[in-house]
Amino acid sequence: MKTLDLGTVPSELGEIPDLMKAIVIRKEREGEPATSMQVEEVPVPELGPSEVLVLVMAAGVNFNGVWAAQGKPVSVFRMHKDPFHIAGSDASGIVWRVGKDVRRWKPGDEVVIHCNQSCGQCPECNGLDPMACSEQKIWGYETSWGAFAQFTKVQAQQLVTKPKKLSWEESASYGLTFFTAYRMLVGQAQVKPGDNVLIWGAAGGLGIFAIQLCKVLGANPIAVVSSPDKMGLVSELGAEMIINRRDFGFAKRPDETPEQVKKRSDEMKRFGGEIRKLTGGKDADIVFEHVGQETFPTSVFVCKRFGKIVICGATSGFNLEFDVRYLWMRQKQIIGSHFANAYQAERANELVHVGKIRPVLDQVFAFEDTPKAHQLMKENKHKGKLGIRIQASL
Ligand SMILES: NC(=O)c1ccc[n+]([C@@H]2O[C@H](COP(=O)([O-])OP(=O)(O)OC[C@H]3O[C@@H](n4cnc5c(N)ncnc54)[C@H](OP(=O)(O)O)[C@@H]3O)[C@@H](O)[C@H]2O)c1
Repeated sequence: MKTLDLGTVPSELGEIPDLMKAIVIRKEREGEPATSMQVEEVPVPELGPSEVLVLVMAAGVNFNGVWAAQGKPVSVFRMHKDPFHIAGSDASGIVWRVGKDVRRWKPGDEVVIHCNQSCGQCPECNGLDPMACSEQKIWGYETSWGAFAQFTKVQAQQLVTKPKKLSWEESASYGLTFFTAYRMLVGQAQVKPGDNVLIWGAAGGLGIFAIQLCKVLGANPIAVVSSPDKMGLVSELGAEMIINRRDFGFAKRPDETPEQVKKRSDEMKRFGGEIRKLTGGKDADIVFEHVGQETFPTSVFVCKRFGKIVICGATSGFNLEFDVRYLWMRQKQIIGSHFANAYQAERANELVHVGKIRPVLDQVFAFEDTPKAHQLMKENKHKGKLGIRIQASL
């Protein structure tokens, strides 16, 4: 077989074409996702002994695809040596071939892929946490064979079973953000029943799962969004306390004048007042952060004494500036968090299997429209998750 049509599954399990279609980024065209990501035909990847080749039925869009396309803040070509980059850190599919050492999976298994890779052999992998491995990488961002292709290769430990009740597109839409939110709230911040949890970007990829997880854990989500339609979505997911950030002027800007600093701190106080109004006089026990530069000073300010700010990203900028007195004098903690280990991915996936957490797939795009989907995400014109149909049929 020379090539494989999109939207089809070969009749013979394990049969592979000479070339596969992939959405490819190359160094010379890094820039806007709409132009930097292009369809190309490339060879199907070769497998190592502990690797699995997956026929990709559907893939999910994440912010790291935007960064990979732009080549900013860091070019992916500094992370691996291949001259091409196939982005995508979420997928569902069918196990197509397995390396000779793979025992847990066999061709035909229906799977969801989690995006953490590690060496599997070091003491960190075998006693501490694979996220501490010096070779730890995010598949499809720090590696070259990601999800936006007809086939992908992954480590065997990256697979979890696909929930039977979900479509391929829904199954491809939750892994990266849900498993990240799970580690942030369950593993790192250790949310307790009754905690008030302030969730930035509550209608975004991480936020939709942070809200649902808070409800599962018996905590109270305070959802921050930027538009009325997003307010509707977070309310459907169970958030009763909702704030429109557009009603406040707390965003931190670079090079502020003393007057602007004063105005911003007044707005932070007003925002804190709104949180207290909603919670019956309480501050946020936990702040769920991933926006970074524009919101971080507010996150530190509104967090309760002895509370925790758990952070996994910085959409608005990496250089965080804030008044540290609010941190030390009120004994708050800042906790970094990054994706999840395989055990956390497995435990989180069980919550999807039993229907306690549901994906929120807002739009599904055809394979050729992968760049368009990333452009929408870059411009913050989406809510929930965006999916890409690859070998799944309409
Ligand atoms: N380390 C990890 O493992 C990991 C995993 C997943 C994601 N991340 C990172 O986390 C970030 C969010 O990911 P995501 O999938 O949730 O992205 P997303 O779907 O784009 O959602 C982010 C949300 O943040 C809000 N937002 C954007 N700019 C903002 C600003 N200036 N101020 C306040 N809110 C703002 C938006 O909501 P409103 O406009 O409605 O407020 C948006 O819905 C990204 O930077 C991503 O790379 C890291």
